[in-house]
Amino acid sequence: MSTTDALQGRRVLVIGRGSGIARAIVLAARDAGAQIVAAGRSAEALRAAYADEPGITTETVDVTDDASIAALGERLGTIDHVVSTASARARGRLADLTRESVLNSFNTKVIGPLMLAKHLGPRINEGGSFVLFSGVAAFKIAVGTMAVAITNGAADTLTRSLAVELAPIRVNAISPGVIDTGAWDALGEDGKAAMFAKQAQDNPARRIGNADDIAAAALFALTNTFLTGVTLAVDGGEALT
Ligand SMILES: NC(=O)c1ccc[n+]([C@@H]2O[C@H](COP(=O)([O-])OP(=O)(O)OC[C@H]3O[C@@H](n4cnc5c(N)ncnc54)[C@H](OP(=O)(O)O)[C@@H]3O)[C@@H](O)[C@H]2O)c1
Repeated sequence: MSTTDALQGRRVLVIGRGSGIARAIVLAARDAGAQIVAAGRSAEALRAAYADEPGITTETVDVTDDASIAALGERLGTIDHVVSTASARARGRLADLTRESVLNSFNTKVIGPLMLAKHLGPRINEGGSFVLFSGVAAFKIAVGTMAVAITNGAADTLTRSLAVELAPIRVNAISPGVIDTGAWDALGEDGKAAMFAKQAQDNPARRIGNADDIAAAALFALTNTFLTGVTLAVDGGEALT
């Protein structure tokens, strides 16, 4: 089967918000023939986000709540692929970090996917896979992103561990660099523009990433049946700088 029709008729669960990277994956997988279940903390917000898009149903899940994950599994029955983009990043210098914010980051991006694997793994059809999310901060240590780095590092290790334990279900991760998804809006328009300009100047790709760059990598991870236990760095080479 070619990669172009590998998602035809497959059910793909994509967890995240109705915009940014999750949305780009939802639309790309749908356009590749998949039936999409877009799930997040607010199914209502997702329904509104995808109101004009055919082939997408919405569901509720909070990845920090095991009962919510188990209930989603019951409602889904079986599924082919699971993508989790859920993230609650704890940015800031050491002095700014609280136990609560760091735990929330781990709970969302590491323990959440671990529990998704526990509850949804037995529901994955033959040939299915998980795609998790890491991030360049794990590979490029900097002051101000320590909690993001250790969360992403744990997500990478989780990916390799699950690939072995869940085999032959494949488990991969994507590690984005700086992607313009709105995730940086807290910096303010000027702060964001300055940060994006510096990143584009410094990284080998000489540009900021976009959500479609990441969706293309996610589709590769979903469809390449010899790829497992890998974190794909789609970061414009930022980790090398
Ligand atoms: N954008 C970048 O530059 C960048 C860089 C490196 C890595 N990444 C990673 O790439 C992924 C997608 O990034 P993004 O920028 O498109 O989105 P994002 O801003 O990181 O959004 C992640 C979304 O996860 C959802 N979420 C949070 N807690 C959740 C929970 N307990 N259960 C279910 N969903 C939850 C939230 O959606 P709701 O608020 O709608 O619930 C949140 O908006 C993330 O894992 C991110 O860390 C992004």
